[in-house]
Amino acid sequence: MELTSKILMRKWREFWLSKNHKEIKGASLIPSDNSVLFTTAGMQPLIPYLMGEAHPLGKRLFDIQPCLRTNDIDEVGDNRHHTMFFMLGNWSVGDYFKKEAISWSWEYLTDPKWLGIDPIRLAVTVFEGDEKVARDEVSAELWQKCGMPKERIYFCPKGDNWWEIGGGVGPCGPDTEIFYDTGKPACCETCGPQCDCGKWVEIWNNVFMEYNVPSAGAQLEKLPQQNVDTGMGLERIECVLNGYDSTFRDDCFKKPIEILQNLSGKTFDFANEYGKYFCIISDHIRASVFLLGDVQPTTPSNVGQGYILRRLIRRAVNCARKLGIEPKMLTQVADAYIQYYKEDFENFAKVEKFILDELTAEVEKFERAIEGGIKEFNSIASKLNSGDTIDGKTAFRLFDTFGFPLDLTLDLAEERGILVDKIGFEEAFKQHQQKSRDNSGAMFKGGVAEAQSEEEKINLRRLHSATHLMLASLRKIVGDTVEQRGSNITPERLRYDFTCDHKLSAEELKAVEDMVNEQIARDLPITFEEMSIDDARASGAIGIFDSKYGEVVKVYTMGDFSKEICGGPHAERTGELGHFRIQKEESSSSGVRRIKAVLE
Ligand code: ALA
Repeated sequence: MELTSKILMRKWREFWLSKNHKEIKGASLIPSDNSVLFTTAGMQPLIPYLMGEAHPLGKRLFDIQPCLRTNDIDEVGDNRHHTMFFMLGNWSVGDYFKKEAISWSWEYLTDPKWLGIDPIRLAVTVFEGDEKVARDEVSAELWQKCGMPKERIYFCPKGDNWWEIGGGVGPCGPDTEIFYDTGKPACCETCGPQCDCGKWVEIWNNVFMEYNVPSAGAQLEKLPQQNVDTGMGLERIECVLNGYDSTFRDDCFKKPIEILQNLSGKTFDFANEYGKYFCIISDHIRASVFLLGDVQPTTPSNVGQGYILRRLIRRAVNCARKLGIEPKMLTQVADAYIQYYKEDFENFAKVEKFILDELTAEVEKFERAIEGGIKEFNSIASKLNSGDTIDGKTAFRLFDTFGFPLDLTLDLAEERGILVDKIGFEEAFKQHQQKSRDNSGAMFKGGVAEAQSEEEKINLRRLHSATHLMLASLRKIVGDTVEQRGSNITPERLRYDFTCDHKLSAEELKAVEDMVNEQIARDLPITFEEMSIDDARASGAIGIFDSKYGEVVKVYTMGDFSKEICGGPHAERTGELGHFRIQKEESSSSGVRRIKAVLE
């Protein structure tokens, strides 16, 4: 029998209810504390309770949590990556620990009443220990007691068997991960769970969260209580249990993919070039439906979560075009998801129309933007004959200035029998990236040349870019009288002196912080141009105009937000900067204030 996601959700509920757990319902994709854009793991909303606060539902909890991870948005399109996915999780917040967690995991996986997996198909990894935390013999023994043969219990280092939130601050601990044998042949004699040949797939993670890192770089400390935090990816478990070749064969994607097949007249198959477009559309539209249909809805915009939603929808539109589907038809796919999920996600029924209307509006908006690019393309193409080539720089300009994907340029060119220099495009693209990176000019202290490691160099670039965003924000919030008086950047922090006649209030500082973080969330491109000092002034760039007459300077632009004379180097996009936080504001000298800030 096919194990659909609905059956798997039901079993999950029944199992944990039978173990006296309470369900946390109504989980939102938007975290309440604003520390990150989206909920990326089931434990995130539980952090205060893992740290010791009492949860209103008690000490044994479980949920089915929609999560959204944007870090590998560009990986979506293969047979297993998703932006949005469901994480099944159960927790002990200061209640049971390894013994119960492991034996219940075993029971849930192997008992025919629940998933009924043949134990021969399972293997586990446990933490091998390091200088601070002991080797996890306890978990290994517990697994053996359940019936797991010793040779299928693998001890692995911190990189594999330690779980912490991205950034490394907060509750953390060693974990034990459970793997499923897909039945594929072993790739080598030592093939096992640590190997990524595809034979073994991780299906469940049990984290024994009894440690905490209170702040960046701080020592590991013991939490006041021992917690269990587990996570099982629903898409993945459904895929392996049913023996599918891809998570996109899962039940929830059937109808959407059928719609896409009918609209396009093409078959969903990884063997052809279209397979990836089916996956991207299916993933991105599902994520969009969940963002729009959330109890705290996100709508498309240029900032924060809204910007991610915009990117997801636009990418789906580009892929629809690749399949020959009229983008506005994507609402049919969205509707299929709404119908599928509305039973479990009650909010969907209330906001059905809103979801479809917002999606339609965004698709139309993007279509209009693309039209501008098409006009430019036509004017370029009108000067060319069939068989001519659009050079790489021009193709890159279409991409850079109009957000025009290279694929679209290729398609339009093909219709006219025109060629596109793809290698030239790649080169222009690389050159552009390189240029932004290379500028280790000596115009500022803390230049890349002084840096030691690669990581420090990256930090200097990020902090340097953050300084530009901060100056532009200060000028918008405090006023145009703010000008640079000094800048000192180390790999750990920025320090910036600027003209200002008063101590900044807490509100002003918060507004500056928020504005910088908004620009980071917008993931603006960071580019530069070389020009004479006069042209730089005429272009509206800010910065120190003390260069000699006639000298060529670099002007760095961050989207529509900042334009400043500077030697560089900088990050490539503001999205690389992380989270900006002001640590301190103080007087530097008369009429000059000083801010120290970090990126976390
Ligand atoms: N928090 C753990 C994870 O995301 C369970 O894998």
